[in-house]
Amino acid sequence: VGSGAVGCFYASRLHNLSDGVLVSLICRSNYQAVKEHGVRLRTRSYGDYVFTPENVFKSVEDARNLLWDYIVVATKALPDVSDDSELLSSIVTQDKTTIVLIQNGIGVEQPYRVRFPNTPILSAVTVISAEQTEPGVVVQNRWTRISIGPFTDGNGRDNASLAEPFASLLRKGGIKDAEVYDEQGLQIVRWHKIAINAAMNPSSVLSGGTPNATMVKDPELRSHLTNCIEEVFRGASAVTGISFPPPTLATAEQIIRSTERNEGGRPSMLLDWERGGAMELEVILGNPIRLALEKGVEMPRLHAMYALLKTAQSRRDTKGSKL
Ligand SMILES: NC(=O)c1ccc[n+]([C@@H]2O[C@H](COP(=O)([O-])OP(=O)(O)OC[C@H]3O[C@@H](n4cnc5c(N)ncnc54)[C@H](OP(=O)(O)O)[C@@H]3O)[C@@H](O)[C@H]2O)c1
Repeated sequence: VGSGAVGCFYASRLHNLSDGVLVSLICRSNYQAVKEHGVRLRTRSYGDYVFTPENVFKSVEDARNLLWDYIVVATKALPDVSDDSELLSSIVTQDKTTIVLIQNGIGVEQPYRVRFPNTPILSAVTVISAEQTEPGVVVQNRWTRISIGPFTDGNGRDNASLAEPFASLLRKGGIKDAEVYDEQGLQIVRWHKIAINAAMNPSSVLSGGTPNATMVKDPELRSHLTNCIEEVFRGASAVTGISFPPPTLATAEQIIRSTERNEGGRPSMLLDWERGGAMELEVILGNPIRLALEKGVEMPRLHAMYALLKTAQSRRDTKGSKL
């Protein structure tokens, strides 16, 4: 569910006829194109190929008569626009189905946990650069890494093995860096990734569409971005109880230096803003700000960007607004 760039890319790597792993896509605006031609992939990691799904459905309702082992959700996480967990009500079979969320952000699991209290959930964070350039055409520019862990309440320990069966399907499909974590470990990966997204994405939009590598070469923006990353690290430490960044993950300075090499990298929030779409403001900014505040840590830099972008988006979307 959510057959865009990320959904189609990982679906194409999971589908494996010789092992009997059959993947179907629930499409929306790209239904006709995918039904007629499959998904055409242009990838840096695996070359060009066509992925023909087992079934292509134009709605979740059309998929309800089959028994699903895994339901992979790769929609944009937009809790302020829609509760996508509701979509799954007719296709989740208790004791049979595992829900896998491949989405950016903090708190994305919560609506699914609440709606399906007894259904296993895997939470996945991906480092990839991919885009659906036209309906049914997906380009993977670089990276494949996906980190996967179980989700009960976010604090479970020593349960990484629950994510292994799904990760091994991805590894068989050539995703060498499909990694498993226990529940707390995965939340630490999520917070670390959000430190990068929460710094870069809104700053890129608010600086008039500046690419990441250009931002970090500007002294004022470099200082702003470093401060934003460190601000999220302080919030992440308070929420997870782990000192950020943990030794295995990059420091703010290392993130900034590696961004210098990411020439041409334009954050997804900027692409969403430019095409007039909804930005993932709540899961990238709002939820982290609120969770940190519950632990007594304010994030004034993030809060300022959140307030500005929320208002900018709402004014853009309110036709004829004179406010
Ligand atoms: N792209 C990347 O490089 C990248 C990297 C890391 C993480 N991520 C994260 O991965 C997630 C997915 O991103 P993406 O880039 O793959 O987004 P995307 O290309 O916009 O794909 C989202 C897909 O979900 C579909 N969708 C949304 N609501 C739906 C609904 N109610 N029913 C059926 N389909 C629905 C959309 O259909 P329509 O086209 O009809 O709207 C679209 O095909 C996001 O959380 C993003 O932040 C992306």
